[in-house]
Amino acid sequence: MTRVLRPGQPADCDALYQLEERCFEGDRFSRRQLAHLLTRANAVTLVAVDDDSRVIGYGTLLFRRNSVTARLYSFCVDPDARGGGLGRALLEALEQAARQRGSQRLALEVRADNRVAMGLYRRTGYVAHRWLDDYYADGCAAWRMDKRLEFVETPPAAANH
Ligand SMILES: CC(C)(COP(=O)(O)OP(=O)(O)OC[C@H]1O[C@@H](n2cnc3c(N)ncnc32)[C@H](O)[C@@H]1OP(=O)(O)O)[C@@H](O)C(=O)NCCC(=O)NCCS
Repeated sequence: MTRVLRPGQPADCDALYQLEERCFEGDRFSRRQLAHLLTRANAVTLVAVDDDSRVIGYGTLLFRRNSVTARLYSFCVDPDARGGGLGRALLEALEQAARQRGSQRLALEVRADNRVAMGLYRRTGYVAHRWLDDYYADGCAAWRMDKRLEFVETPPAAANH
């Protein structure tokens, strides 16, 4: 199955709402919040689509003026599309999008009981540095994690003469 990552558009709102319903048991975004995120100037959303143009994953970054730290605000992959590397690819693409906006760090919050996501974050260089008690609506705690975004230099094009 081929997967394409592309910027989110306002027309993705319903698909993202349905994806959130499949991915999260609580603390989900409403359609209104998603519509707002998809049009905010200080947010970037990337969506993953399959061969049939079905949205199977997405992630949103938030940026603050005068801050070199971007925030991973939402990030999920459809249950049927998990375990094949899409989550990691999407996370790497979001990191690259943050670098392109001049961010030097990426911060996120993750449920303390979300072992899969925490494992992915740890293995890709995120460090847990703050425990947030009673962070989610159901009382679950969160870890705040962050990662320094190294600048990845693109090799110069080979001379051709
Ligand atoms: C976290 C999530 C995005 C990962 O998506 P994914 O497409 O399965 O990710 P990948 O296939 O790239 O796998 C990422 C890593 O997790 C591991 N992994 C995936 N599913 C796993 C499972 N069920 N148990 C243990 N490890 C698992 C993979 O082995 C992989 O490790 P590696 O990168 O070292 O090889 C997905 O599980 C998800 O949407 N979860 C629900 C929403 C969520 O928790 N979002 C994060 C909120 S902070």
